[in-house]
Amino acid sequence: MAALLQTDKITVCYIEVVINFIKTKCCFLKNLFTFFVSLPLVLKLNQTIMFGNFSYENPTRLHFGEQSLDCLKQELSNYGETVMLSYGGGSIKRTGLYDKVVSILSQAGKTIIEDAGVTPNPTVEKLYEGCRIAKENNVDLILAVGGGSVCDYAKGVAASTWIDEDPWKKYYLDYKDPDTDAKILPIGCILTMVGTGSEMNGGSVITNHSQKLKIGKVFDSRLMPKFTILDPTLTFTVPKYQMVAGFFDIMSHLMEQYFSNDDDNTSDYLNEGLMRSLIHSSRIAVNNPKNYEARSNIMWTATWALNTLVGKGKTQDWMVHMIGQAIGAVTDATHGMTLAAVSIPYYKYIIDDGLPKFVRFAKNVWNINGDNKSEKEIALEGVAALENWMREIGVAMKASEVGLTEDNIEKVADATFLGGGYKKLTRDDVITILKQSL
Ligand code: NZQ
Ligand code: ZN
Repeated sequence: MAALLQTDKITVCYIEVVINFIKTKCCFLKNLFTFFVSLPLVLKLNQTIMFGNFSYENPTRLHFGEQSLDCLKQELSNYGETVMLSYGGGSIKRTGLYDKVVSILSQAGKTIIEDAGVTPNPTVEKLYEGCRIAKENNVDLILAVGGGSVCDYAKGVAASTWIDEDPWKKYYLDYKDPDTDAKILPIGCILTMVGTGSEMNGGSVITNHSQKLKIGKVFDSRLMPKFTILDPTLTFTVPKYQMVAGFFDIMSHLMEQYFSNDDDNTSDYLNEGLMRSLIHSSRIAVNNPKNYEARSNIMWTATWALNTLVGKGKTQDWMVHMIGQAIGAVTDATHGMTLAAVSIPYYKYIIDDGLPKFVRFAKNVWNINGDNKSEKEIALEGVAALENWMREIGVAMKASEVGLTEDNIEKVADATFLGGGYKKLTRDDVITILKQSL
């Protein structure tokens, strides 16, 4: 990417299309990168400007709270008779949520089409199966009940059921958007696990094992859920490993958008508030997973961490996700844990390139006292505070915990798209960071 525009105080800004994606030889990495920066445009800001140009739209209606499932019946009245009920490996049956949802659907007079077995990291084979089921039954609504995987999958099915092309090729490999006049199925979501933000964004990550590709497509607002039910009590049963991986996923989404640009931007103030809330509530939740206040704050934070709001007017970073996803592609480890495993080495590696922001992070997010300290000392104390919090909640602190070895480092480096926020990484930089994370 081109360097940030450096001018004097003339408040000029412009948007530059990131055509270097096209120059990259690897379609998968190109798409992965595009997914995480969320837009095919990158705002180029000079140092004196708060915002570039952007559009903001989010059509997802949220129903939040312990009684929010009560809103499902009203939502259902907006759609036709046939509802495809998509869910994962069975947690919703064990928790009793399945019975409640089926009861509401039945009372609303809906015909239920069962669509079970969406795996974590949903596969292209399941996507094809979902499209077949939806088409054969001419479904009117996809109701996704589960975590980010079920929600991501539902978006893929919604966009693909009524197209003639291969959806894997069209949307994920070629990164095309649905046609203007495409028939897109509406999606509703009942979220049972927090972290990804899929409940209020257009992201859809699908894995193709035979091609060894995991690609995230960001669909436009037509594919965002029409409504999402956010009942924090539904997350009480998430196993601790998944729970804290989700907490770190949220923190990582926030940091990826925070560590870029040095201008005065409202998005960063919002971001700091979300990070502070997450840190506070996560400390409570790890000791008492059924603390409603903590789990509800975390659920709300997760949604706002990746519904595009706090990335507005920013170039963004996403190198932790690029390296973490590359580890995941090679080792199949849990998404949030791969991010945790490389974050501290990564941030120490780029700290000099974004020093003022790291100082701000230390002071505003971690309450570090800066008296009689150099900027570097303050910044490092901020990263140390992040590290302490990570140990406290119990995420992976070393990449060896998520399957990285001396032997597969080169493969992971090959699978990492080279971009960055304050520092543009080379392949050698990635290898250094990976070695430091072992
Ligand atoms: O399948 P079931 O039986 O439901 O079990 C799930 C699954 O095994 C379980 N679980 C979920 N809610 C539960 C529960 N177990 C007990 N009680 C509950 N209430 O948790 C396991 C993980 O679920 P999953 O949906 O896979 O987790 P997550 O929400 O972290 O989603 C991960 C997927 O989202 C993608 C990831 O790449 C991955 O494929 N992402 C999507 C993003 C987006 N749409 O913007 C951004 C993220 O960075 C991420 O890449
Ligand atoms: Zn993530």
